[in-house]
Parts: sequence; C-alpha cells; structure tokens
Amino acid sequence: MSAKTPTRLEPDEPGIAEAARLLREGGLVALPTETVYGLAADARNDHAVARIYEAKGRPSFNPLIVHLPDLAAVEQIAELPGAARDLAAAFWPGPMTLVLPLREGAGLSPLVTAGLPTVALRLPAHPAMRAVLDAFGGPVAAPSANPSGRISATRAEHVIAGLGNRVDAVLDAGPCAVGVESTILAPGETGLRLLREGGLTREDVEAVAGPVTEDVTPGKVEAPGQLSSHYAPGVPVRLGGNAEAGEVSIGFGPSTADLNLSATGDLVEAAARLFDILHEADALATARGAGAIRVADVPDEGLGRAINDRLRRAAAPRD
Ligand code: TXA
Ligand code: MG
Repeated sequence: MSAKTPTRLEPDEPGIAEAARLLREGGLVALPTETVYGLAADARNDHAVARIYEAKGRPSFNPLIVHLPDLAAVEQIAELPGAARDLAAAFWPGPMTLVLPLREGAGLSPLVTAGLPTVALRLPAHPAMRAVLDAFGGPVAAPSANPSGRISATRAEHVIAGLGNRVDAVLDAGPCAVGVESTILAPGETGLRLLREGGLTREDVEAVAGPVTEDVTPGKVEAPGQLSSHYAPGVPVRLGGNAEAGEVSIGFGPSTADLNLSATGDLVEAAARLFDILHEADALATARGAGAIRVADVPDEGLGRAINDRLRRAAAPRD
C-alpha cells in the first residue's frame, strides 16, 4: 500500500464520475453531505463495507446509514409506515435518518444492518452527494468519515488527517453546512423514538410527527442487545482450541476446517464473510446433527477485534 494521501476530487462532472466509478469498484470514497463527510462504499458489497469498519477502526459492527437518491429507492429497501411518510415528505432530502423495517431481498450487505431487521436510511441534500448517488445508481453506506472515537469530519482536510490513505479518494466540496450528524428517528406503531439528536431539531420533528414518545440516550445504540441473540446460531459456538469430533469447524488462515473465514488470514476478507460463514456453519451443523460450532482464534487486532466481538456474542451463554 502506498503512503501517499488519497486522491482529492473536485465536485465537478469528472470528480463525480470518478467517485461513482470508485464506488462501483468496491472502493472507499469520502463524500460531502450537508451534515458531515461520510466514508462511503457500495452498501451491497460485503468486502467494501468491511473496509469501512477497518478504515474507521470500529471496535464493533455498528449498523451503518444507507444513503439513497429518492423515495422510490427507499421503498425498494424498506417499508414506510404512515408516520415515516410524513417525516420523509417534510424533511427529505435533509439531515434526518429514519430507521425502518428492512424489506426481504433488499440486497444490502448484512454488515450494513449488522443483521438487524431494520435499516437506517437517509436522503442527503448536499448537491455533490446527490450527484454521486445519481451517477452510482445504488445504495451507499456511509458512517461519518472519522476514525472511531474521534470527532466527525466536516472538511476534506479533516478526513485526510484522520484517515489518510485508508480512503481511496476524497470529494472535496468545502466545509459541511450542518456540521453535526443527522437526527435519527425510529417511527413505529407504538410511537416515535428519537435515537440520536442531530441536524434536524426536535421541535421541527414534533411539529410534523407529534411528540417524541421515547428518547434513547444520545450515543447509545439500541442494536447490541438485539445483536447477541440475532447472531447466536442454533447450536453452541466454542471459540479457540481444537475442534472435537462432531463439531463443525471454522478456520482462519491455512487449515483443514469445514469452513474458513479467510484461507490467507486476511481480516478484511474474514469480516466480509463472517455472517455468511456463521449462517453456513449453522446449516451444516443442523444437516450433520453436529453438537457445536468451533471457531479458530482470530487475532485481536484491527478488524479482528470487531470479528471477535461478534464471535463472543455468538458464543455467549444463552437464556
Ligand atoms: O449525518 C449522518 O448521519 C452521517 C452522514 C455521513 O450521513 N452519518 C453518520 O453515520 O453519522 P454513523 O455511522 O456515524 O452513525 C450511524 C448511527 C449508528 O451509530 C447507529 O447508532 C445508528 O446510526 N443506526 C444505524 N442503523 C440502525 C438501526 N437499524 N437501528 C438503530 N440505530 C441504527
Ligand atoms: Mg459517527
């Protein structure tokens, strides 16, 4: 990998075409939105999405926001209950993210939703971002373009300082107008939950959708609790050590295991394949009547930490 800084693209026609081309090729491109710069990748591409987690150094697979050009694209991916429709009509495109029920066959990488039955969607207003979405023609996953645990990037310079050549290119459209992330709302049958305060005020939200019925502490993700059970396969998962007779084995690096996260020991590949492999192992265990799934040690560094976090959840004792 070269040590040079990422390509800086202009928000003009060639720059936008190049950003779309990089996304199509599975690249990582920092894109301006009206809130913050996003670290963007093709939301359907497991490997590209895994690279987002790696570039940010995220300790766990938090679900990502998917950016779309219009309501027709939203309806292909998620269901839009009435309250969501009102919010969408009032505030999209803009600094609002809606958590909505994921449609079956939506085609997103499971890494984007972290396996949840819901998906966070946003129609951004920034003209350069909208131009890239149009040129690319697919769903774009993009968390804020900062290393995990650091403040968000609102200028191309911040992105380059924080992520350097971990991104392939930065589309530089100057500073972001909103400067804080989108407001995240979950409209549902039981009311309207505010999951993250952000660029759209609560007052504006309530003027359209009525009172917020539940606040989630800012920064707290509702996902982890659901994740542990969602990722628990039907049979017990055991971590490390050697596979015993009657266990389905998952290897990492050169191995004779039944399945392998990455034969070459590549953590990006392992992360991209993790959920698929767990599902496959579960099916294989059921087919064989195996008593457990044994997973080889994965180094606890880089993306390996996120992988181990998921594996520990899968292996955790169940009620
Ligand atoms: O303004 C923004 O929202 C920026 C720009 C780039 O769009 N993006 C952003 O993404 O802030 P990120 O990944 O830093 O924050 C996304 C948050 C996650 O931390 C998680 O809390 C929440 O969105 N989220 C995503 N999917 C969710 C889901 N299905 N259920 C609940 N929360 C979800
Ligand atoms: Mg963030």
